[in-house]
Amino acid sequence: MEIFADTANVQEIQTWLDFGVLDGATTNPSIMLAGGEYQLQAGAKKIAKLLGEKPLSVEVVTDDRDDMYRQAIEMAGWAKNIVVKIPIITTLGEPCLGVISRLTTEGVKVNATACLSFNQAMLAAKAGATYVSLFAGRISDEGASAFEVIRNTAAWLKAWNMPTKIIVGSIRETVNVQDAALAGAHVVTVPPKFLLQMIDHKYSRFTVAQFLADGQSAAERIHALGLSLNGNGSKHKKTATANAK
Ligand code: E4P
Repeated sequence: MEIFADTANVQEIQTWLDFGVLDGATTNPSIMLAGGEYQLQAGAKKIAKLLGEKPLSVEVVTDDRDDMYRQAIEMAGWAKNIVVKIPIITTLGEPCLGVISRLTTEGVKVNATACLSFNQAMLAAKAGATYVSLFAGRISDEGASAFEVIRNTAAWLKAWNMPTKIIVGSIRETVNVQDAALAGAHVVTVPPKFLLQMIDHKYSRFTVAQFLADGQSAAERIHALGLSLNGNGSKHKKTATANAK
C-alpha cells in the first residue's frame, strides 16, 4: 500500500520523503489555500519537482466540464508526475465521466475525486480513472461505513482486474488510516499531522527512555570498574599483561 501526503506544505512533504515512507502527494483547492499556495501553477510545480517521479494530484477549479478538460490539459503539462483531479460530478450533479474518459484516452492521468459511494467509484473506474478518491471522513459524516465502501470497491476492482487504484482521503483520525489500509485501499493520503501521531506512542517513549537509562548506567559502571566499553579487556588486564611481558 502507498502513502501519500495530503498537503501542499513543501517542508512537510520533504520531511516525510526523507523518512522514506512517502509515495506521492495530493492537494485540493482548500489544501492549497490553507497552505498559502494561492498561485496554483507555481505551487504545483514546486511540489511536483520535490516529488520527482512520485505522483502529485492537483484539482481543476471550475464547475464547467469543458473548462475542466482545458484546465486538466494545461495542468498535465506543468510536470510529468501531475495527476489531474476531476470531480466525479459537478455542483449540479452532472457526471464528469466524459471528461475523465477523454483525458484518460489522451494519456492524462486522472484522479476521480469527491467520491462518496461504491457506485461512483465503480463508474469512475469504468471511465478509465487512474485513481478514484474515496473520502472516508465525508462518507462517515453521512452515516455510511467508509470501511465497507472501501472494502467493496477494492473487492470489485480486484474481481474484474481493473487497474484503477483507490486513494482514501478525508482522514480525520489516525484510526481512519488503519481502517482504510485493512479495508484494501491501494493508497491512503494522510495530512502530516496524523503521520506524526501514527509514529508516536507514550509507552514507546517510556520503553526507549528505560533502555537508554539502563544503557547509560551500564556504561557508568564499566567506567567505574575501569573496563572498556567494547569488552576487549580492562585497564587492569592490560597492565597485568604488560607486567607479564
Ligand atoms: C484528498 O485527496 C482530499 O481532497 C482530501 O483528503 C479531502 O479531505 P477533507 O474531507 O478533510 O476536506
